[in-house]
Amino acid sequence: MSDKTYPVSEETQARALVDQATYDTWYRESVENPDAFWGEHGKRIDWSKPYTKVKNTSFTGDVSIKWFEDGQTNVSFNCIDRHLETRGDQVAIIFEGDNPYIDKKITYRELHQHVCRLANVMKAQGVGKGDRVTIYMPMIPEAAYAMLACARIGAVHSVVFGGFSPDALAGRLVDCASTFIVTCDEGMRGGKPIPLKDNTDKAVEIAAKNGIDVKTVLVVRRTGGKITWADGRDVWYHTATQAADAACEPVAMNAEDPLFILYTSGSTGKPKGVLHTTGGYLVYVAMSHEYVFDYHPGDIYWCTADVGWVTGHSYIVYGPLANGATTLMFEGVPNHPDQGRFWEIIDKHQVNIFYTAPTAIRSLMGAGDAYVTRSSRKSLRILGTVGEPINPEAWQWYHDVVGDGRCPVVDTWWQTETGGHMITPLPGATALKPGSATLPFFGIRPELVDNEGNVLEGAADGNLCIADSWPGQMRTVYGDHERFIQTYFSTYKGKYFTGDGCKRDADGYYWITGRVDDVLNVSGHRMGTAEVESALVSHDAVSEAAVVGYPHDIKGQGIYCYVTLMSGREGSDDLRKALVAHVRNEIGPIASPDKIQFAPGLPKTRSGKIMRRILRKIAEDDFGALGDISTLADPGVVDDLVANRQNKK
Ligand code: WT7
Repeated sequence: MSDKTYPVSEETQARALVDQATYDTWYRESVENPDAFWGEHGKRIDWSKPYTKVKNTSFTGDVSIKWFEDGQTNVSFNCIDRHLETRGDQVAIIFEGDNPYIDKKITYRELHQHVCRLANVMKAQGVGKGDRVTIYMPMIPEAAYAMLACARIGAVHSVVFGGFSPDALAGRLVDCASTFIVTCDEGMRGGKPIPLKDNTDKAVEIAAKNGIDVKTVLVVRRTGGKITWADGRDVWYHTATQAADAACEPVAMNAEDPLFILYTSGSTGKPKGVLHTTGGYLVYVAMSHEYVFDYHPGDIYWCTADVGWVTGHSYIVYGPLANGATTLMFEGVPNHPDQGRFWEIIDKHQVNIFYTAPTAIRSLMGAGDAYVTRSSRKSLRILGTVGEPINPEAWQWYHDVVGDGRCPVVDTWWQTETGGHMITPLPGATALKPGSATLPFFGIRPELVDNEGNVLEGAADGNLCIADSWPGQMRTVYGDHERFIQTYFSTYKGKYFTGDGCKRDADGYYWITGRVDDVLNVSGHRMGTAEVESALVSHDAVSEAAVVGYPHDIKGQGIYCYVTLMSGREGSDDLRKALVAHVRNEIGPIASPDKIQFAPGLPKTRSGKIMRRILRKIAEDDFGALGDISTLADPGVVDDLVANRQNKK
């Protein structure tokens, strides 16, 4: 923990929407009287039928979460139509291509037309309210059009990150029985094409074997690369939208109608379909986008996330557009054509608010200051970070070098499940401490509990729970409400358990220490150890696998795999390569193992449970501190594991 504190500067204070006194008053009201607080702030979006009820939530029993339940609204209307009169000609989306010579600006009026045409195409193809539409796209405006078109007609989107494999895509198609896909011929990242349509074709085949027959694949032409075509199933986006009408009435949705499903990894089993609904979600992401980034009309805002993750949903598309903002979508990667790309884009589009991930900050820090200092960055006002704990050194570099010491850094802690920011500074209200996500957002009641569930007071170190509901909270696991209750509300009765460890200091500031469950965070990407293990054991050479994370300078965590081979198989570098390729194939490149150790035996208790604590220590090269190994069925395996560790310092 760094002990430095950065008070709010006068300049930031002068233009801030929320100052410290306002934060204190609003925060108190938001937790003492959530009905009154959210009843008021819910009005920031337009409702076709105003709500009369505000909060109706319970974290016990069947767990039921309803906000604004008798209100009606439409997310697409709020993100587009209501801005047309006042800012129809303002840019809604700035598209910056992978190739630095390609960019495009889309006004709110143009956005309206694109979204209406696509919504009409979907309707004509038989997509209706409640149907699941899968979006497997690169970072191009059509991805946002597709999300908004779904919202317009009441279809539920499931965006699958373009880096996922055909297998992973198929699993998600099948889980939510989705038969309509929007994809693209190829994506383009760092100058290399990504075969999205090919992957989709493979996924459709796999899904068919699992009982899901995809009816339509709508294909955006991005590169013009060679693809195969299935007549009767595949439809070109450009021909279909050209022929479609440019007006489409938004459908009135109940506040609690589903808006989207987004799959995320947990400590066990397959990825879960996190379900977010309409009214509360939009209120929450719009409000947090405005206050956390101190967004003023006319500001140019850039979040570098991918729309395949929740950050892209909430803070590239829905939050910013609900606020009538100009949001930048970047197709490429931070190091193409070189490591100065982010800073170049900031100057090119005069970006005022910049939101990225610690892993990107660390890797660009490693590239040297010259890439940064050759740009001006004078337009910058606010810097943000999200995805994993940021180490104080990276925070300091971001603040001092990227922000020239002028810009507050908002370290926003939240999760796919939370919909929006939970613990975060507000630029005009919160003194900053490097490495701390600081204080709770309005309506959020963090609690630290020990392993027995006792609530800890004052300065403490414990498991992070949230004591009461907030409007952006997920409502259920799609198709499996029991799993929702089990995963989040059963460890500590009556509380939402985040899965994160956290410290609170004497000033009440929160410091997230990372996951306390078997979830990895690799470059800000969340991954279940169980998923990687099941990918490994599906290889014919592998009999058993145990996966743990270890500290990695750039990625935050690396993936360390202990693999026991089938008898008769020999470990070799070739087999290591084959296993890495196999996992990439099963899940996607983000799950590539960093280290593979062939282990004749794994450390198990007499009841057969793998002691991951020991495996983590060995992976960290910290085997002096293995703790008690006497409960192992065969303590002898530990010596072999230590002797053959892959992370020797
Ligand atoms: C997990 C959630 C929220 C969008 C991106 C990730 C970690 C996220 C921070 C932060 C420390 C963070 C947590 C959390 N995390 N932001 N500012 N400081 N840790 O969403 O994939 O659902 O992952 O990311 O461990 O539980 P996600």
